[in-house]
Amino acid sequence: MKKKSLQTEHTRKRYNATSVVYDLMEWPIERILYNKWRKLLWKQVEGPNVLEVGIGTGKNIPYYPKNVRVTGIDFSPKMLDRAKAILSKYANERVRLQIMDAQNLAFPDNHFDKVVATFVFCSVPNPILGLKEALRVTKPGGKLHLLEHMRSGNRLLGTVMNNMDGPIHYLSGVHIARHTVENVEAAGWKIKEVKELTMGGIFKRIEAIKPV
Ligand SMILES: C[S@@+](CC[C@H](N)C(=O)[O-])C[C@H]1O[C@@H](n2cnc3c(N)ncnc32)[C@H](O)[C@@H]1O
Repeated sequence: MKKKSLQTEHTRKRYNATSVVYDLMEWPIERILYNKWRKLLWKQVEGPNVLEVGIGTGKNIPYYPKNVRVTGIDFSPKMLDRAKAILSKYANERVRLQIMDAQNLAFPDNHFDKVVATFVFCSVPNPILGLKEALRVTKPGGKLHLLEHMRSGNRLLGTVMNNMDGPIHYLSGVHIARHTVENVEAAGWKIKEVKELTMGGIFKRIEAIKPV
């Protein structure tokens, strides 16, 4: 238990520290890949009541459909401050932001219609616990929509990613060699679709359902 909370503190500190340069660092990949993936993902999200886990600097806010109410949570106050700034530009009354740990959500069971997270479960210190919490707060039959990077299924690339995972996690809080599709299933979600977005199986869009 103690180890888990130390990891959570480590990850939170890393995101607090990088929050100032986060958007700049991500700018090239956002322009080349992420923005089109975000647009496609949010087109599939029906509301009315949606939870965005790990909202970060609020990069998904411009893509929220008009007919949804979104609760965005993040455990990094500095990342969330940047999301607040974005939100003020959109004057979006349908969105509320809260500091919260994905591993311990302060929402009742069966509360949300949909849960969305983009590039988050690579960082959540205990991803299965976070995915179980997402399942708990989703209504039966409700959906989970994820964009994630994960360990490549290619043997050589996967081994390289395994070896680099420790140092990269220490520096950034991010794990690059997670088995996220398996983690989603292990948390109790039923996988509906896994779409490979790049070669090597590193980036995937995952859609899963909470069994009724
Ligand atoms: C790589 S960033 C992605 C941000 C945003 N979703 C995006 O698409 O740009 C990961 C985010 O997840 C948040 N995060 C990681 N672990 C978390 C946890 N246990 N609870 C809440 N937020 C978490 C981090 O603070 C960070 O803002």
